[in-house]
Amino acid sequence: MKGLKDKVVVITGGANGIGRETAIKFWNEGSKLVLVDMPSLEETELQHQFPERMTYIQGDITTTDCLKQIDQATANGVDVLINNAGITRDASFLKMSEEQWDSVINVNLTSLFKISQLLATKMKAQNSGVILNAASVVAHYGNFGQANYVATKSTVIGMTKTMAKELGRYNIRVNAIAPGFIGTAMVRNMPEKVIKMMEEKAPLQKIGEPSDIAAGYAFLASDDAKFITGTCLNIDGGLVNG
Ligand SMILES: NC(=O)c1ccc[n+]([C@@H]2O[C@H](COP(=O)([O-])OP(=O)(O)OC[C@H]3O[C@@H](n4cnc5c(N)ncnc54)[C@H](O)[C@@H]3O)[C@@H](O)[C@H]2O)c1
Repeated sequence: MKGLKDKVVVITGGANGIGRETAIKFWNEGSKLVLVDMPSLEETELQHQFPERMTYIQGDITTTDCLKQIDQATANGVDVLINNAGITRDASFLKMSEEQWDSVINVNLTSLFKISQLLATKMKAQNSGVILNAASVVAHYGNFGQANYVATKSTVIGMTKTMAKELGRYNIRVNAIAPGFIGTAMVRNMPEKVIKMMEEKAPLQKIGEPSDIAAGYAFLASDDAKFITGTCLNIDGGLVNG
């Protein structure tokens, strides 16, 4: 992939699932990683995967302390930010608690805003940078029990387009990826019949791999995508458009 070697790449939620696979992909491309996640490094066994070229920030992205650590870790510049961390707290709309609403908004949206603003300011000073945001296919068609989650993911697509419009003049590209159903803990926790239904719905008749999404992030961050901004790439086995 063109132009990823030695680039400083910040990945939130980089210890598990799609984030972890994305970290491995960029590491293999020669990037320098700043991973941000809640589990300890030992728990994730990442130290075996990443003996070098990595800073690991163990923290909660909704906290000021974590933001400060991200600021410090990128004191010498930042090339790519991947706002990957995300949570679900499902409940049907009439039963959704304020706590369920707030927690999903805080992690999936407010943190994305704060981290992006912090790092886009540095990218503006450098006159270069890439910001990639995790959306979801449910942003396009809604999902039972996920009013909070869908609110964040459809907003992420709108924010991506707006940020692309505002930041393009500073040579900062902003894009989103809307994954379909990908075999990570988030999906494995769903009822089996829902997973089966999703497999049947997708034209490719299967659930995707975290590496399918990692490949999308690497492409969008690379120089091969230097004329792409403000878009949302569906990587979903055809679920939305098939
Ligand atoms: N898996 C899918 O099918 C799917 C589909 C559509 C969108 N997505 C999106 O892709 C992203 C990654 O999903 P995944 O399936 O890999 O999830 P995952 O649950 O496997 O991993 C998410 C990671 O984010 C971290 N995280 C959560 N809250 C955090 C916080 N406050 N501070 C720091 N780290 C935090 C978790 O510790 C975890 O390591 C999410 O934004 C998700 O909404 C996933």
